[in-house]
Amino acid sequence: MAGNKLNELQLNDLNRDGFLILPELFSENEIEILNEKMPHLWAQDTEANIREKNSGEIRMAMALHQRDEQFSKLVYHSKLINPAYQIRPEPLYVQQVKVNNKTPFSDDVWQWHRDFGNHNVNDGIRRPLALNIHVYLDDVNQFNGPICFIPGSHLTENREVASHEMFFDDQTTSYAVWAVDEAVIGNQVNKAQKLNPDHGIVAAMGKKGTALIFFDTTIHCSPANFSPWKRSVFSMILNPVSNAYGNTDRPDYLHHKDLTPVEPLGGDLLNI
Ligand code: SIN
Ligand code: MN
Repeated sequence: MAGNKLNELQLNDLNRDGFLILPELFSENEIEILNEKMPHLWAQDTEANIREKNSGEIRMAMALHQRDEQFSKLVYHSKLINPAYQIRPEPLYVQQVKVNNKTPFSDDVWQWHRDFGNHNVNDGIRRPLALNIHVYLDDVNQFNGPICFIPGSHLTENREVASHEMFFDDQTTSYAVWAVDEAVIGNQVNKAQKLNPDHGIVAAMGKKGTALIFFDTTIHCSPANFSPWKRSVFSMILNPVSNAYGNTDRPDYLHHKDLTPVEPLGGDLLNI
């Protein structure tokens, strides 16, 4: 990645697989600064903090760019914003910002889903153009609930994105999602294995500071954290202004209504 832009190989991988891993995009010191903010943010009494129903631990801390200056710097960082504009060269706004947390031994999961299923039904977004950008605040390994992808699952027929291929899961999770039917998962994994037998499902593992970009239709999930290590992942959704929400009744922390296009900021995260 030169000049905070993706190279051709990276763009090809993203377009083929529907996701792209950028190992250690931010330094360990930069990530530590963000981690130091978390206990204070988690302790705040706000509906933007969403808890696990079994343990009461924080599962998601939302709207963080409005709650903390350091997270605001991360949201607008050129290492994240420049690639986003390369992929979607039109004005983009910040739809959602959060840290998804998995405490040690947490049995809370994210079922297989497409973000678009949720954006379409919940937010009234018409086209699957949003980008999901993650930054790992902890090392993510096979034990602490990595995000898993089905390569190529973004290249799908429209019919699969329709609601009859999804079910509403508010049972196995503390944050309800429209999840993708098992039959679709089976077909998509099969299709991926025809291209690469070892890549039916890929767990996106990486050191803290690693970033991840994926499309709105790429199928993903994450399993329970059965390790003694926590797993916190920063996630933001950027969406073209031309594709903005149709529902205006969602709380702002779930879908920000400000459509001001994002502008990249430079520098490192250590200096405010
Ligand atoms: C997770 O944090 O494990 C899931 C993230 C997502 O669905 O975007
Ligand atoms: Mn998702």
